[in-house]
Amino acid sequence: MLPPGKTLGVLGGGQLGRMFAHAAERLGYRVHIYEPATDSPAAEVSAHAVHAPYTDLAELEAFVRGCDVVTYEFENIPTDPLWRLENAAVFHPKWQILEVAQNRLREKTWLRKNGFPHVRFAECEVGGDLAAAIRGIGLPCVVKTADFGYDGKGQQKVTDEASLAKAVAAFKGQRAVVEQWVDFKCELSVIVARSTAGETRSFPVAENIHTKHILDFSILPARVAPEIQTQARALAEAMADRLGLTGLLAVELFLTDRGELLVNEMAPRPHNSGHWTMDGCVTSQFEQHVRAVAGLPLGDVGLTAPAVVMVNILGDAWRWTGNACTGQPNWDAVLQTPRAHLHLYGKKEPRSGRKMGHFTVTAETTEKALELARALKEQLQG
Ligand SMILES: Nc1ncnc2c1ncn2[C@@H]1O[C@H](COP(=O)(O)OP(=O)(O)O)[C@@H](O)[C@H]1O
Ligand SMILES: [Mg+2]
Repeated sequence: MLPPGKTLGVLGGGQLGRMFAHAAERLGYRVHIYEPATDSPAAEVSAHAVHAPYTDLAELEAFVRGCDVVTYEFENIPTDPLWRLENAAVFHPKWQILEVAQNRLREKTWLRKNGFPHVRFAECEVGGDLAAAIRGIGLPCVVKTADFGYDGKGQQKVTDEASLAKAVAAFKGQRAVVEQWVDFKCELSVIVARSTAGETRSFPVAENIHTKHILDFSILPARVAPEIQTQARALAEAMADRLGLTGLLAVELFLTDRGELLVNEMAPRPHNSGHWTMDGCVTSQFEQHVRAVAGLPLGDVGLTAPAVVMVNILGDAWRWTGNACTGQPNWDAVLQTPRAHLHLYGKKEPRSGRKMGHFTVTAETTEKALELARALKEQLQG
């Protein structure tokens, strides 16, 4: 166990690192951030920050040697420097897990190999026959880049011959994954913590609504049968166990019309769909992450309200005149509402699709929480 007062290192300096730092500092830890960009949400609230490329082995080594444990808030970190530094520090989770999660092909192959339910897929290597892979899966389907995809970037849906030809041209020279299109009933996610002692504890299941491939609303409790929730949590816990993970694992799932759960993707870090825990759960996902990597007992995951809804605030909520940003959202709408909480990440420049913050509301029922959340979202932009 790493007692409070010790130093937790985080690779990545985005909003997830910022909220991790808040939780760690509350438990008495020091947080050091390693982030290539000079101006980052996490560095702003941490004791120390290093700005250097992830591939700068000397800087990275000096950084990790100054930390008692090192974790991540971002999964697209090159793993080559990490395995070289394996003996220079304690890393939670280990680099091998990052390597599986950061590449869709490795991720899906891992799911298949370990018998976890997943969406039917085919791979297409650089220079491979993408058209054949698409026909093999059948239409409709979705083509995704194997590396570095997020928020729907690097994805294209294929529904007919014309979009097939477009996809073949767009993915030329890239390694790609072709996935069957899933007509899902809803999207769910489970965040599970696994401690240094191997104890797993999953948060209640979130129901997620995406708009233009970006998370828009997370709804708690999810509006699905209790058996489905139990099954989803067991699945996420089994995955964390199988990975031998220490830290957090977020698992995104599709619930199909036939009531089947399919894993869409996983991330070994805190997750956007877990932000509701900061205002609607006894322990936040960030505190749980701190507890897991520091070897503390895991915290309680009970809801503190009957229903919670989290809404992402994107750069689109700012006032725009053409390409010029001309004003901030109407924060008062959220600030003046009882049982609503505003969280902003301190990013200076709003951009369309960029995650700038989020808010949560709690209520007696999911319907009421969702109704209030939708109204506040509209007022923010109004
Ligand atoms: N095979 C699929 N069938 C139906 N919808 C999908 C499929 N793959 C992705 N989507 C939609 O696009 C969203 C983003 O895709 P995802 O694979 O999670 O990538 P990202 O890394 O961008 O989050 C999903 O949450 C879902 O709404
Ligand atoms: Mg996703």
